[in-house]
Amino acid sequence: MNILAEIRRRFAAALAELAQEEPPWTAAGESGMRDLVRQSQDAKFGDYQANLAMPLAKQLARPPRDVAAQIVAHLDVADLCHEPQIAGPGFINLTLRDDWLAARLGAAVSDARLGIAPAAKPRTFIVDYSAPNVAKPMHVGHIRSTVIGDSLYRTLKFLGHRAIGDNHIGDWGTQFGMIIHGYKHFLDKAAYERSHVDELARLYRLVNQLVDYHEGRARLPELEKRVAEAEQTVAGLRAAPPTGDAKADKKAAQILRRAEADLAAAKSDLAEMRRRLAAVEADARLARLARDHAGIAEAVLAETAKLHADDAENLALWRQFMPDCMAAIQHLYDRLGVRFDETLGESFYHDRLRKVVDDLVAKGLARESGGAMCVFLEETPAPMIVQKRDGAFLYATSDLATIQYRQERWQPDALLYVVDHRQSLHFQQLFAAARLWGYGHMEFAHISFGTVLGDDGRPFKTRSGDTVGLEGLLDEAVERAHAIVSANDDAKSDGPELTAADRKRIAQTVGIAALKYADLSQNRTSDYVFSYDKMLAMNGNTATYVQYAYARVRSIFRRGGVDVERLRADAAPILLDTPAERALAVALVQFAEALEAVLADYRPNQLTTYLFELANRYSTFFDQCPVLKAPSEELRTSRLLLCDLTARTLAQGLALLGIDVVEQM
Ligand code: ARG
Repeated sequence: MNILAEIRRRFAAALAELAQEEPPWTAAGESGMRDLVRQSQDAKFGDYQANLAMPLAKQLARPPRDVAAQIVAHLDVADLCHEPQIAGPGFINLTLRDDWLAARLGAAVSDARLGIAPAAKPRTFIVDYSAPNVAKPMHVGHIRSTVIGDSLYRTLKFLGHRAIGDNHIGDWGTQFGMIIHGYKHFLDKAAYERSHVDELARLYRLVNQLVDYHEGRARLPELEKRVAEAEQTVAGLRAAPPTGDAKADKKAAQILRRAEADLAAAKSDLAEMRRRLAAVEADARLARLARDHAGIAEAVLAETAKLHADDAENLALWRQFMPDCMAAIQHLYDRLGVRFDETLGESFYHDRLRKVVDDLVAKGLARESGGAMCVFLEETPAPMIVQKRDGAFLYATSDLATIQYRQERWQPDALLYVVDHRQSLHFQQLFAAARLWGYGHMEFAHISFGTVLGDDGRPFKTRSGDTVGLEGLLDEAVERAHAIVSANDDAKSDGPELTAADRKRIAQTVGIAALKYADLSQNRTSDYVFSYDKMLAMNGNTATYVQYAYARVRSIFRRGGVDVERLRADAAPILLDTPAERALAVALVQFAEALEAVLADYRPNQLTTYLFELANRYSTFFDQCPVLKAPSEELRTSRLLLCDLTARTLAQGLALLGIDVVEQM
């Protein structure tokens, strides 16, 4: 049961009554309830707090405490709360009744779902996540998409929704033109025999570097011009004498600062470009290849176009490469414990693109502009291009076809795209175009996320920047987890408990967990700095800390020789004698609220925050309330039940993040 939602309903009912009796009262709308009725930040103010009286008092021009008293007089919460208290200027504080809390927990003990009811109105969600461009180096951003998407998918399912996880892989883009071209011209046969994937990755990198080189050469004059112009602007601004007018001078200083920043940016772009060009020129072999393949960019485009035109040779090569590319990615998914219901990549939609554009044109939604087919939108200044001048279709066209297909096949209520923030314009355009095209009944959401940064504050790069690099990332997390698990075990007062095999197995789980949790616990829209030390810390908001709380419970049960099934079946009463027990109980019954908060704005960090708080309260309880040596048998049983509920809630919560628990650490 979601207590917060229930309390909001009760307040809404009270306000509706008041509004009927006395017309100037207004019932706060849903968003008002959301903002004004919340969990209390501090136990001093009870468990929930309503801040409704103040805005209403302003409206009614009456003292807020009077308004609060009148709300309380109409508020019917006696079944779950003590008498509401009015505090300060007019806050209404609610404290859950202990007998009610104990009854809720008692019901959770015998419920496999821990008292979490499935959604009353299940909806169908397509979760579009991970979606790497195969055959191209996968970056850490794809791990973000994978773990965030996976966690949303699991949470939706747990709450009783129909969720379809669809991995919309990029398997039809220019990267294939690159490896096809590379395969035809630069293949090292022996290396290919040794490892298909490694050789394909090398070919991709080589061709990409050569294309990049020629593009860079072509763009160099433009960058140089930009620097020269910016230098002139700055010099001009510096030379201008002060006007004597303070306001005007301040403005001028501001303009100068901005121009200086532009200059610095232009210089750094130019330096970066020169560095990349020099890297090729300094390498005799690369320099020769670059000279001999001046038209490589066009050649790559031509190979891509041939593939898209169903050229037999290129299609055969694509079919030859795909299984190898997919196997490499699949290995990563296996390690992460992620699976999809569908993997329908861009190639799957290839045959539908022509019809999409024709339909858009027939409906008057797309028209020609500068030779390209465009959908003009109110929401964005730039139109969405669905077909290029040369006839090629685009990423956007493919995404429109995907929406059409998903509607035909699943009739979804919502489409969630877990993709990094750099694609926000694409999704803005896509959603706007889809609405025009007749899909306005669907909820479209771009679950955007920020960049993973290195220590230097620049986008985090693995050494090789490819899938192998990402595997290396997992390896290192597991290795470091192993060191921590071993040190922890060695330090146990009664000597180590774990075998070498145990330590290895636990390190796998703890290492991967740390990586996932570090990502999920961020506010997804912000950037964050990647740090092994932070993610594996035993204290703080980490998977390790939460997993440790779980393992502690399990260790109590082992030491006490507790039969968990019996304990649950006996359904003994739960006693909430001390503040630590009560605080733990309140956190336990708030699990449902955390899950709904995750789905309210698709933010898994709402769940990590909750689990961290629960683990904290458990830790206080553990320090203050002896369990196996409780003063009475009743209390021992009650505390064991609290331990068991905590462990189950932690395990369930972590499972929704795609994280496993370990029995011992
Ligand atoms: N393959 C794309 C990339 O790596 C992401 C695709 C996301 N999904 C979608 N339906 N556009 O940038």
